[in-house]
Amino acid sequence: MNKEIIFISGASRGIGLSMANYFADAGHIVIGTSRNNFKFENNSANLIPIKLDITCRDSVKNCIDSLKEKNLIPSILINNAGITSDQLFLRMKDEDWDAVVSTNLTGTFNLSKALIKNMLKNKFGRIINISSVSGLMGNPGQVNYSSAKAGLSGFTKSLAKEVGSRGITVNSVAPGFIETDMTSFLDCDAKNEIVKDIPLKRMGSTTDVTLLVAFLISQEASYITGQTISVDGGLYMY
Ligand SMILES: NC(=O)c1ccc[n+]([C@@H]2O[C@H](COP(=O)([O-])OP(=O)(O)OC[C@H]3O[C@@H](n4cnc5c(N)ncnc54)[C@H](OP(=O)(O)O)[C@@H]3O)[C@@H](O)[C@H]2O)c1
Repeated sequence: MNKEIIFISGASRGIGLSMANYFADAGHIVIGTSRNNFKFENNSANLIPIKLDITCRDSVKNCIDSLKEKNLIPSILINNAGITSDQLFLRMKDEDWDAVVSTNLTGTFNLSKALIKNMLKNKFGRIINISSVSGLMGNPGQVNYSSAKAGLSGFTKSLAKEVGSRGITVNSVAPGFIETDMTSFLDCDAKNEIVKDIPLKRMGSTTDVTLLVAFLISQEASYITGQTISVDGGLYMY
């Protein structure tokens, strides 16, 4: 695969960090973001950390403008940043809804909007949206998160239809339960309960997700678009 410039939102830890390290080791330039100042422990010159809140449109615009000035124009966008704010619907506060939808769904809109023009101009691009099994099968306590992630499927299909003729593919990846900070609140008993329902009888690793994304951005996946592909050990089959 050609060496590309890859933009990953939410790359300071978890799945985003795993992808950043993997793609940098493969020789790509990776621009990774987080709301907080951070450094990549891997000292590769291919890794560029940037502080950016993807929910803030002005900050997204300024960030992409300053990358363009440095001739760092991403051809691959991985919309990975996500948050949860779980609560049963009756007790869910407006703020829980707004924060989760603006990060998981509107953040994807903000970044895709800012980067798509150059992909159209270059007649090449890859957009990967990190969704969730929760957006496919629903999950009690996650009306906000499930809605935002399900919204990504519609986003993915519609945008894929708009830009396919210009060599751009748009796909979603729906992880199941992956060992990261996002699932670290689960104690051993809770994890054992979850694993009972997973045909492959384990939680997923960040590498499981990274390797699927690596395939979807590769030349070999150039005929796959508009799809939501699960990496969940068989937890949800559809
Ligand atoms: N772990 C799982 O089991 C699982 C399952 C299904 C789907 N997913 C999805 O996979 C993606 C990654 O999850 P993860 O488990 O790796 O989560 P994580 O460990 O909590 O990491 C989330 C990343 O997103 C960043 N982030 C959050 N809000 C942001 C914002 N507004 N602007 C920019 N960056 C922001 C965080 O950095 P800061 O906090 O410093 O901003 C961090 O780098 C998410 O979309 C998540 O919904 C995860």
